[in-house]
Amino acid sequence: MTLRSAASDKGAPKPAGGVKGRLDTPAMVPRHVAIIMDGNGRWAERQGLPRVAGHRAGAEAVRRTLRAAVEAGVEVLTLYAFSSENWRRSDEEVSDLTGLLRFYVDRELETLEKEGVRLRLIGEPAAFGPDLEARLQRAVERTKDNDRLTLVVALNYGSRGEIAAAARGLAQQAVERRIDPSSIDERAIAAQLQTRDFPELDLLIRTSGEMRLSNFLLWQVAYAELVFIETLWPDFDEAAFGLALDQYASRQRRFGGR
Ligand code: FPP
Repeated sequence: MTLRSAASDKGAPKPAGGVKGRLDTPAMVPRHVAIIMDGNGRWAERQGLPRVAGHRAGAEAVRRTLRAAVEAGVEVLTLYAFSSENWRRSDEEVSDLTGLLRFYVDRELETLEKEGVRLRLIGEPAAFGPDLEARLQRAVERTKDNDRLTLVVALNYGSRGEIAAAARGLAQQAVERRIDPSSIDERAIAAQLQTRDFPELDLLIRTSGEMRLSNFLLWQVAYAELVFIETLWPDFDEAAFGLALDQYASRQRRFGGR
């Protein structure tokens, strides 16, 4: 196993000793992990249950994964909970998903506090209406000083839309002569993205065997390691998360160099 020295690369994953029971030697733990939680519908179908049962079981998998990420020493966990394309689902399913979100945001607030988790949002959650948005913002506000792990929930998020908004923001600044267009570089674009406060994405996991990015973190994924697993999201647990971290630790990241 070849591991990069964390000391030689600022912003690279740090060595951490807190991955209990997985490896005897210190593992390279990714600082920022993102997950495309896929397969709720298929899980429900296989059990002969309505799709909403799959989403409910998926929410339990979120709790397990959050605990595993805290335990492993991950700094930021970004979850794709609702894409800007998910509005195309039936009214019933959209309402089930928003209902679940409303239920969990209130119920889980105490757990987030207890675990030292700070909640942040990306996407455009205002589209879910003032009530849910206010609940979400209250949870963000209440957890803002927690520092064990940052849980970023992507809600009504689409990466192309995020990049277009970044371009609009820079164009506006150029029109107002606050920046020179020739100064727009990668750093300037990254600073406009909704992920600007978080470390570089290290690892992206997608469950359920699909190998697509589905408009998720397209800019941020540039040098991330990708792990696609067959497990359906409701079956995802600490062991599956540990296996994904092991895969990550076994890869040699070159960031374009040799
Ligand atoms: C994909 O499965 C999953 C979603 C569109 C929603 C993810 C939502 C949750 C896990 C529940 C609540 C989340 C939080 C943060 C409390 P799918 O329905 O596309 O599955 P399929 O491809 O098998 O149909």
